[in-house]
Amino acid sequence: MKLPQTPSFRLDGRTALITGASRGIGLAAAVALAEAGARVILAARSTDDLAAAVDAINLRLSETDTSGKHLPVASSVALDMSKPESIDAVVNDVPEIDILVNNAGIARHGPMLETELEDFDAVMDVNLRGAYRMAQLVTRKMIEQGRGGSIITTSSQMGHIGGVDRSVYCASKFAVEGWTRALAIEVGKHGIRVNTICPTFIRTPLTESTLTNPERVEWIMSKIKLDRLGELEDIMGPVVFLASDASGLITGSSLMIDGGWTAG
Ligand SMILES: NC(=O)c1ccc[n+]([C@@H]2O[C@H](COP(=O)([O-])OP(=O)(O)OC[C@H]3O[C@@H](n4cnc5c(N)ncnc54)[C@H](OP(=O)(O)O)[C@@H]3O)[C@@H](O)[C@H]2O)c1
Repeated sequence: MKLPQTPSFRLDGRTALITGASRGIGLAAAVALAEAGARVILAARSTDDLAAAVDAINLRLSETDTSGKHLPVASSVALDMSKPESIDAVVNDVPEIDILVNNAGIARHGPMLETELEDFDAVMDVNLRGAYRMAQLVTRKMIEQGRGGSIITTSSQMGHIGGVDRSVYCASKFAVEGWTRALAIEVGKHGIRVNTICPTFIRTPLTESTLTNPERVEWIMSKIKLDRLGELEDIMGPVVFLASDASGLITGSSLMIDGGWTAG
């Protein structure tokens, strides 16, 4: 009997660009992709944090060639997602990209009735305009390379539901969900898959103020069916899955990592 072959979760020989990789979810994604065999390029504004992250990944994972020389798997590049010229320069300078984790993001939470346009613009510049531009340029590069690719944008469960004090953040993430689907339609013929990951509350510097507010924690815990907050490790498997051949027919989709929040 001829059995089907499980597609590989390995990423050997592939190059991944991860934005917002100086800490939090982006850093976890970079570690996971490197452990699955990819060369990883970590991008963000904080170059000292990036350098420390790259050193730590290379210490854990660097390969040795036949002469005993260490071949680093991780490197970094400075990137400001609020500046289109910075995005253009990074995509231009990176020699090749098979996987994009389009993850950099910010939040300015508060009631919609009190939102300042400055806060609206700041969030949209990074979460929507920056992520859109990054996906556009990387997709063009992948088409030129001619070997397909995987674009994974860190959206949120807040790209599917509303949340307390989260009008601007929700607007940015719902928009990400929209262009993800439109881009998937456009580039499927090139073998480029375009998806989002949609985490619930994960412990990172971004969520520190929310997770130290007892009222907010009560709200969060009343919604997560698995009865616990998310940890960085909860992101790592889903990112590798969407980057790898194991998710070969998945595009234009959202992978919920929400402990059942949006189930009802
Ligand atoms: N934590 C959660 O609960 C949660 C849930 C759902 C979705 N998300 C999404 O996950 C992503 C990562 O969040 P996180 O929790 O890991 O946040 P975080 O710990 O605050 O990290 C954010 C990352 O984005 C980078 N970044 C911010 N502004 C940037 C800019 N202008 N240019 C380049 N990089 C920039 C930061 O690096 P620098 O400051 O060094 O530039 C940092 O590496 C975001 O898109 C967020 O919306 C988070």
